[in-house]
Amino acid sequence: MISREQLIKKYIDFFVSKNHKKIPNSSLIPENDPTALFISAGMHPLVPFLLGEKHPLGKRLVGVQRCIRTTDIEEVGDEVHHTFFEMLGNWSLGDYWKEESIKYSLEFLTKELKISKEKLSVTCFKGDKDAPKDTESEKVWKSLGVNKIKFLPKESNWWGPAGKTGPCGPDSEIFVNKVEIWNNVFMQYIKNEKQEYIQAKQKNVDTGMGVERTVAILNNLKDNYLTECFLPIIKQIEQLSKKKYEDYKKEMRIIADHIKAAVFIINDGIVPSNTEQGYILRRLIRRAIRYGQSINIKENFTHKLVDSIIKIYQDYPELKTNRNKIIEELEKEENRFRHTLERAINIFERITKDKKEISCKESFLLYQSYGFPVEMIEEECKSRKIKFSREEFENECEIHRELSRTAAEGKFKSGLADHSQETTKLHTASHLLLAAIKKIFKDDSIYQKGSNITPERLRFDFNFPRKLTNEELKLIEDEVNKNIKKGCEVIREEMSLEEAKNKGISGVFEHKYGEIVSVYTIAGCSKEICTGPHVKNTCELGKFKIIKEESSSSGVRRIKAILEQ
Ligand code: ALA
Repeated sequence: MISREQLIKKYIDFFVSKNHKKIPNSSLIPENDPTALFISAGMHPLVPFLLGEKHPLGKRLVGVQRCIRTTDIEEVGDEVHHTFFEMLGNWSLGDYWKEESIKYSLEFLTKELKISKEKLSVTCFKGDKDAPKDTESEKVWKSLGVNKIKFLPKESNWWGPAGKTGPCGPDSEIFVNKVEIWNNVFMQYIKNEKQEYIQAKQKNVDTGMGVERTVAILNNLKDNYLTECFLPIIKQIEQLSKKKYEDYKKEMRIIADHIKAAVFIINDGIVPSNTEQGYILRRLIRRAIRYGQSINIKENFTHKLVDSIIKIYQDYPELKTNRNKIIEELEKEENRFRHTLERAINIFERITKDKKEISCKESFLLYQSYGFPVEMIEEECKSRKIKFSREEFENECEIHRELSRTAAEGKFKSGLADHSQETTKLHTASHLLLAAIKKIFKDDSIYQKGSNITPERLRFDFNFPRKLTNEELKLIEDEVNKNIKKGCEVIREEMSLEEAKNKGISGVFEHKYGEIVSVYTIAGCSKEICTGPHVKNTCELGKFKIIKEESSSSGVRRIKAILEQ
């Protein structure tokens, strides 16, 4: 028997004993990658460092990272799929390579987790036009006495990039009794915007071990939902529905998974909405509510699962701090959804009055504009003997998906994972912006609440109680442009978090920083804890222009700005 917390501790202690430094568990919302909505792997927050930026904690890192994979939403319901999961990982940033990585993995599995070598099998990359067959890993495995080796093509044995562009490479996956638990990725390539694989300057190792799956295996369970990562939530759902997990596995797994994911997403500052992360959050909550209804839970229930989730994850103290906010958002969304359903039923009745059939355009309208889930359209039609073709409905959806995909590709075409010049400049501009805001309002308690940068613009949130006037915006803009014209040098230094705090240097989300941090100083204007990247001198920035000022949430203002050449 081994608990989730014990597994995490064993893993981190093991790699610390091999000279790795522990990195923090980052927010689910990527700070530097507009090509992705959520952090989907342990390496994701490390992209700048995998691309060659110096990490303040060194070249050997270890950590556990919370992740969301939205591609799996429809898969959830079986024993092993989740939207939210945790990933353990160790990384070599241009340090050790295949041999040491594989040796560490085998030592950890056999000595620390006491899994016998006979139960292990591995896969390696088969080779193709982009990269050769990975005989190097094969040799290492064989020399260590692991002989069950399969070679597979890119679809199975290649990992990354996490967004549309960035570091990636062949991998070697480790299976225990045929279940995959660990992936060692040898990041030797960068996928660029033209979808080409370019040899990377720095060769990195990125590994990932799924916590839920490993806990299940180590406790001889086939069903991840029976591990302590889920069981308390499942028990609560059994109580609320007065039904047994054995009879309603799929429904209960979906509810437990989705609400757990929702709790963590809200915890990282997102609220339900119709765009981007907020939309995924909305979908997860509403899908859980529908499955709740299908097992006869009549009243609002999603918020009742929050405490059992917080109890599982006591090593995330911020969940406790945010408990009331999480409960409030879930309840609000549940009420909104009930309201939406009532309205949708009214519209549905109007559309289908005296009719024997509903067209795909009408059903799509109900689904898209009135938030009526397709399963419910199906049920309502059935009970009223109205003809409805699910197939035609799906075709209609596909047409619309295609349209939005084209739009999204347009939006993301210049990606950030490559850290283009534009995004680097906008990074530096956001430091100048914060300094200017503080100066104009003569208020040092103003700080960054959030930031999002695409190659086209920066978005910057800060605490401020009211709308800014046009005059104030102009003063801020002028102040930034003055500091650009001055040509201030940008200097990076490293210091302990303690020292940075003592010096009063501002940062953003304190719990996310490691013990050693990078501090960027813009001579004469600003000093901030930040991972970068930044330009060398502000004169590289061009002309700064604010294009929008609006409210972001209560007490928080949002500025969008661009740099003109
Ligand atoms: N990044 C790799 C994965 O997610 C380790 O499998």
